[in-house]
Amino acid sequence: MASSYNMKITLCLRILGCFLLLLTVSTDKVVKGMQEFSKPVGGNVTFHCPVNKTKKLEFVYFQKGNDFVNGYHSSKDLSEHKPWNNTKCENFTFYMYYLELSQSGVYKCIIMYDGTYKETLEYNLTVTVSYSKPSFTTECNNRKDVKSCQVTCKSQDGFPSKKFEIVSAQNGNNNGGMVTSRNDSLFNLTTKLFSSTVTVEFNCSKKEVKFVCSVAGVTSDTISICTPPSDLHIIIISGILALGLLLAVAVFLIILRRRRSGANRPATEAEQYIILNQKEKP
Ligand SMILES: *[C@@H]1O[C@H](CO)[C@@H](O)[C@H](O)[C@H]1NC(C)=O
Ligand SMILES: *[C@@H]1O[C@H](CO)[C@@H](O)[C@H](O)[C@H]1NC(C)=O
Ligand SMILES: *[C@@H]1O[C@H](CO)[C@@H](O)[C@H](O)[C@H]1NC(C)=O
Ligand SMILES: *[C@@H]1O[C@H](CO)[C@@H](O)[C@H](O)[C@H]1NC(C)=O
Ligand SMILES: *[C@@H]1O[C@H](CO)[C@@H](O)[C@H](O)[C@H]1NC(C)=O
Ligand SMILES: *[C@@H]1O[C@H](CO)[C@@H](O)[C@H](O)[C@H]1NC(C)=O
Ligand SMILES: *[C@@H]1O[C@H](CO)[C@@H](O)[C@H](O)[C@H]1NC(C)=O
Ligand SMILES: *[C@@H]1O[C@H](CO)[C@@H](O)[C@H](O)[C@H]1NC(C)=O
Repeated sequence: MASSYNMKITLCLRILGCFLLLLTVSTDKVVKGMQEFSKPVGGNVTFHCPVNKTKKLEFVYFQKGNDFVNGYHSSKDLSEHKPWNNTKCENFTFYMYYLELSQSGVYKCIIMYDGTYKETLEYNLTVTVSYSKPSFTTECNNRKDVKSCQVTCKSQDGFPSKKFEIVSAQNGNNNGGMVTSRNDSLFNLTTKLFSSTVTVEFNCSKKEVKFVCSVAGVTSDTISICTPPSDLHIIIISGILALGLLLAVAVFLIILRRRRSGANRPATEAEQYIILNQKEKP
């Protein structure tokens, strides 16, 4: 069995183009589960291929799906296979630099020992773009004495698609009668990025709600909704009212005093002169 397989491979190698076929043969042994990698766009990633150095190694290929990315071969020059120019292969370790969004995907490290024994390792690379800090819009209504508020959190230009989580919506012990009415992630064809939106509704009780939302690890500011007129407000308002009353009383008293003094005061010189003049005319 093994020797006939070896013969087939030897034959195969003689045929032009078979080498490429070898690159893309379905692999027979997947070692370990898929390893997950998440890296920001423009960043770097390193994949280690666990080559057993006590065995005779034929090649180590690094592929994205079935596309050759980079590799090592014990007897062949692989440069004709055009290794990706943002990669490096050293000591069976693959380095990728300046990651692009399109480089997300499943990568494989294929290790061939002695032409017969093959191992494959898989890596799931997700190239990420940070979402913008979430912004809010709030809208409150009073319907039949029940105040209800609607809060929308929105964040843009992220990758991959993520939905919002509500970090905080405290209102005493319960969730403030919170109901999620929308929880979307939309793809923008122009930017090739996602925007995420969540809308939640509250029936406001007597307590205010501290609200925080978060998408892909990016957290919003804290806002207060359903804010009832606070004690401080009441103090300020009654303070203003008291001051206003005091002012009104003061003005009233001043006017009263002016009127009284006006009635008792003797005529001025000018007034006396006019009076005298009028008396002398006829
Ligand atoms: C990625 O690697 C390049 C080249 O080694 C280096 O200049 C750059 O700072 C690295 N970027 C990050 C985010 O580590
Ligand atoms: C490496 O290969 C040798 C010889 O085949 C084997 O005895 C050993 O267990 C292997 N080591 C690992 C870490 O797989
Ligand atoms: C690498 O290759 C891509 C196309 O595959 C090309 O757009 C880019 O300019 C190349 N970069 C360098 C540094 O050669
Ligand atoms: C190659 O990697 C092995 C472990 O995988 C390490 O022990 C060795 O020092 C590395 N050699 C070089 C030249 O980096
Ligand atoms: C790779 O990771 C992404 C993001 O976590 C996930 O959506 C995708 O299903 C994974 N792919 C595979 C083949 O596991
Ligand atoms: C939005 O949906 C995601 C997944 O569908 C879920 O994990 C998340 O909790 C939801 N968020 C809200 C606020 O309902
Ligand atoms: C808010 O209260 C109204 C009437 O009291 C009720 O119909 C509605 O379902 C409540 N909404 C939430 C989000 O609890
Ligand atoms: C997609 O993004 C562009 C650039 O930010 C913006 O002008 C456009 O309105 C967006 N399209 C949608 C459907 O949101």
